Amino acid sequence: MALHRLTSITIGVPDVATTAAYYRDFGLAPLGDGRFATADGGEQLALVGAPRRRLSQLGVGVDDRDDVARIARQLVGLGVAVERIADTLTAVDPGTRVRVVVAIAPRIVQAETPQAAANGPGRIDRVNERAAALARDVGVRPRKLGHVVLGSTDVQGSERFFIDGIGFKVSDTIAGLASFLRCSTDHHNLLVQRAPVALLHHTSWQVDDVDEIGRGATAMLAADPTRHVWGLGRHHIGSNFFWYLKDPAGNFTEYYADLDCIVDDQLWTPGVWDAAKSLYSWGPPVPPSFLAPDDLAELMGAA
Ligand SMILES: [Fe+2]
Repeated sequence: MALHRLTSITIGVPDVATTAAYYRDFGLAPLGDGRFATADGGEQLALVGAPRRRLSQLGVGVDDRDDVARIARQLVGLGVAVERIADTLTAVDPGTRVRVVVAIAPRIVQAETPQAAANGPGRIDRVNERAAALARDVGVRPRKLGHVVLGSTDVQGSERFFIDGIGFKVSDTIAGLASFLRCSTDHHNLLVQRAPVALLHHTSWQVDDVDEIGRGATAMLAADPTRHVWGLGRHHIGSNFFWYLKDPAGNFTEYYADLDCIVDDQLWTPGVWDAAKSLYSWGPPVPPSFLAPDDLAELMGAA
């Protein structure tokens, strides 16, 4: 049948305990041993010890063993070494240095979440009532892992690996710089961008709406203001609201809501954008550390 989602990621960090406390504050449910679950996606994050921060593993869920066999053929056709044990396939993309594990997994089923009633000019949908968001008093709980953004030292090679090999589809591109790729109906589940060293730029986690982004980020910043990176804003590519924070290892984490969804491939035309237009529609100015993370020189030195 098809690829249908990201299953889980494994992030290597120097200090697992400190980083785990951050992801607990972020709203992921701790399962023990550095593993975490989202509300709808189940176990989706594992933290493991590593000398420097990196994405060590990316899981992609498929429907059946025909998918695994087809992906194995495609990767072998590209000259990529594939390890296959039963219905699980493992291969490494050299450009991002990420181990990709393709396995049969159940699709995520998300309960329909009604949009909160809102008033507008000439439109009173919330009658004689205060906004429902005011009554939210429990911590934000991300619904699922949405996407991962990786720096690649060989963008064309990584595009071949993920598009022609694994089977991701292209949603939009920034010419010569980056590709927004999907393995589900989400506009992007993976962004591969040009970088001087293989690195994890950010992981992104879906929440219900822009109120949940605001509530989640402000709670994170109340606990530690140095976690702030960039937000609140709305992206241009993907359209989503965003707020980026930073974990103790230096990985950015994004709360997002209202991402474009591509349900019918025939009805979506991928765009080619220039870098200036592509980043955001509105929001605070982009901090330089978002474009070039503070530890970039250190990561390059280590590589
Ligand atoms: Fe993102």
